[in-house]
Amino acid sequence: FSCDLIRNFSIIAHIDHGKSTLADRLLELTGTIKKKEVGKNEQVLDKLKVERERGITVKAQTASMMHTSGGKQHVLNLIDTPGHVDFAWEVSRSLAACQGALLLVDASQGVQAQTISVFHIAQERGLKIIPVLNKIDLPAAQPERIAAQMEATFGTDPADIIRISAKTGRGVDEVLRAIIDRIPPPSGVPTKPLKAFLFDSQYDRYRGVISLVSIQDGILKKGDRIASCYTKKKYEIAEIGIMNPEENPVNGLYPGQVGYIACNMKESSEAHIGDTLYRVGAAVDPMPGFKPAKAMVYAGIFPIDTSDFPKLEESIKRLALTDRSVTVQRESSTALGQGCRLGFLGTLHMDVFRQRLEDEHDANIIITAPTVPYKIVYKDREVFVSNPTEFPDAIDVASKVKEIQEPVVKASIIAPEEYFGEMMDLCFSHRAEELDHRYLDAGTGTSSRIMLNCVMPLSEIVTGFFDQLKSRSSGFASFDYEEAGYKASDLAKMVFLLNGKPVDALALIVHRSNEDKIGKIWVKKLVKVIPRQMFEVPIQAAVGKKIISRETLSAYRADVTAGLYGGDVSRKMKQLENQKEGKKKMKRMGTVDMPQEAFFDIMSSR
Ligand code: GTP
Repeated sequence: FSCDLIRNFSIIAHIDHGKSTLADRLLELTGTIKKKEVGKNEQVLDKLKVERERGITVKAQTASMMHTSGGKQHVLNLIDTPGHVDFAWEVSRSLAACQGALLLVDASQGVQAQTISVFHIAQERGLKIIPVLNKIDLPAAQPERIAAQMEATFGTDPADIIRISAKTGRGVDEVLRAIIDRIPPPSGVPTKPLKAFLFDSQYDRYRGVISLVSIQDGILKKGDRIASCYTKKKYEIAEIGIMNPEENPVNGLYPGQVGYIACNMKESSEAHIGDTLYRVGAAVDPMPGFKPAKAMVYAGIFPIDTSDFPKLEESIKRLALTDRSVTVQRESSTALGQGCRLGFLGTLHMDVFRQRLEDEHDANIIITAPTVPYKIVYKDREVFVSNPTEFPDAIDVASKVKEIQEPVVKASIIAPEEYFGEMMDLCFSHRAEELDHRYLDAGTGTSSRIMLNCVMPLSEIVTGFFDQLKSRSSGFASFDYEEAGYKASDLAKMVFLLNGKPVDALALIVHRSNEDKIGKIWVKKLVKVIPRQMFEVPIQAAVGKKIISRETLSAYRADVTAGLYGGDVSRKMKQLENQKEGKKKMKRMGTVDMPQEAFFDIMSSR
């Protein structure tokens, strides 16, 4: 065994630039998987159904390949990274097990917001970066121009850039050579005490937690007794192997190798990402770990039929076992009954979780508007609030609260220069500050790309920002952000009153500069979805004692019963309609009957 024959690498790229396609080609070229029939484009490393449906990678997957070069058999460990801003934390975690990275850029799209952020993560970790231009088969590809852009943005020597088509396979053999020639081997010592770095884990119903580890020093074998630096708990290795790409048992893992272990860990919380494992009796200094992922977006999830709560809670817990970055708490609402309040890394993460709940657990749910964690600074303490119902009301704010702070992010947008005005507008209308911009490739003759940087409240980007960015740039703008702490802000709780009674599940946190606009929009939406009653119902938006907006729902007449929720034929609504009539429940809100469907309508349009 020799460390010199191992290469640990990742592919890093902006979403859709072809990571999974290149990974498949590398697995095929090394004979790890069979070449697929032409036309079949299902990626091997993407395993979740939602990933396939959305064409994105959510959970990082790892695969080992054997490749003979110069008469020697090398082990190439590919550590796949997810491709979305919400999962930047997973990218950083995967890169900790690598010595090199392929920086993949679409030759027709050029450098995008996330290309820059992943480049910085890789550079900070001191990885050898191999620049690769993909999709050179496309008629719209401009390899020369994009190479110049990479030189201007990253200081890349254009001579180092490998030009490929992951789709046709052209140039992929050169990538394989570069992995072996340019990426340094890991530097572990087999005779030193065992030091294994835990960088990912999955939950398996039968075997418990399966952890992915990278061996820094020493040798890890089946039957070995190990301990965790973090929890001090002890385990025995029941199973050990490599992923190529399916689990493949081996006798032992050597320094520099990446593989999986099963050691009868019952709870996924025992597998602490960033932990160092050592042999019982031979303690080592832990490696610098990771900050745990922080939930930045919270939402309540409620069953449509309140009697389904026990089943829903069970499903949520089961799903959360496979996704450690989700936090779960119970929540109850007078309007929606018993539910759970979940914390997510971002809104895509939330959508993915919701979709898995629906697809894999057949759950019928209502999900409330996403909220970010606000910091309420009292005279003597600070409290984080991620549920509008817990937000102090106007009177408390005036008398007891020193300051309210909200999380902000450093955002960057890259777009062709003709969209610059639109992008500036978009940022300003989302309370952006500290705007600045620079050209990525000035002087190339063709339309240039501009990078716009600003500081923005996180709450402004969790609802619909991404869709607006795409539609106002005809799909050409890309976007990325990183957390940038908290900032004082003039925020207030807005409540909605039906017939004078507040409805807890509808409460929102708003910036005072927007309260009139938001109040009007929501009152108008509520008028549309709430069925008429036997009497007139005032619908109001209020901040503190101040009524911001008001509409009146006129009294019921016999001919307006039907078709209240026509128009929206989302999958969910169809499911709802298919439910038995008797299952439909009316929620009595004060004196107003409100069907769960009306909640669903209002929540899904937020
Ligand atoms: P995420 O996992 O979502 O980050 O995407 P990805 O970077 O893994 O991209 P993926 O491999 O899914 O490719 C995105 C799209 O580009 C797919 O439709 C691929 O078929 C296509 N694609 C990938 N490589 C090439 C290429 O070399 N040429 C062409 N024409 N299309 C490609």
